[in-house]
Amino acid sequence: MKGAIFDLDGVITDTAKFHFEAWSQLAKEQFGLILPAEFESELKGISRTDSLVKILEFGGLRDNYTDEEILALADKKNGYYLTAIETLTKDDILPGITRLIAELKEHGIKLSIASASKNAPAILEKLGLLNEFDAIADPSKVANGKPAPDIFLAGAKAVDLDPADCVGVEDAVSGVAAVKAAGMTAVAVGDATELAQADAVVPTTADFSYELFEKTWQENN
Ligand code: G6P
Ligand code: MG
Repeated sequence: MKGAIFDLDGVITDTAKFHFEAWSQLAKEQFGLILPAEFESELKGISRTDSLVKILEFGGLRDNYTDEEILALADKKNGYYLTAIETLTKDDILPGITRLIAELKEHGIKLSIASASKNAPAILEKLGLLNEFDAIADPSKVANGKPAPDIFLAGAKAVDLDPADCVGVEDAVSGVAAVKAAGMTAVAVGDATELAQADAVVPTTADFSYELFEKTWQENN
């Protein structure tokens, strides 16, 4: 293993609830829709506009909005989201992540971010982690969102590594699919049944370690 390519939301910090609350507020105000709780996990890893399209399809409203209107509504949601994440600090880094980053660096592993979030640099800054990563792949520069491999391929390329030498770290079904499609080893956090496509799944981020990543990578190669 030469690189670890990280998702952000749900792996480094837990912003899923803020995304879900912002979407719920928008859906209620704009469409009179109450989003079912399952949407919180279904929208993990899914880009801002793809998330909105899923919500509109759920409400049977997709054809009522132009692409331009969709962009404006997605922007409105982002405003609610930005207000919600204003108060993020280093105390919001998920358990074990600061230790994991130090362990990986000690072993000379390159670290990069492969998040669908356009807010990733701002979030990393709030967490005090911006300078810990060697690269952040830009989701606005890739053609296809997760489950397509594009953002993970961009994450490996940004640190000059062959995807096969990298472990991709994820919490979402769409994200694990993207890691595997990129030809990487997948280590995931969450429900083992839901994330069965991953090469290793642990229940919490506190269970992540250099040893786990290296062992999983070896078994896969
Ligand atoms: C992550 C989250 C998704 C979110 C996406 C885009 O993948 O898991 O829920 O929709 O990023 O985030 P953004 O901050 O660009 O709206
Ligand atoms: Mg995630």
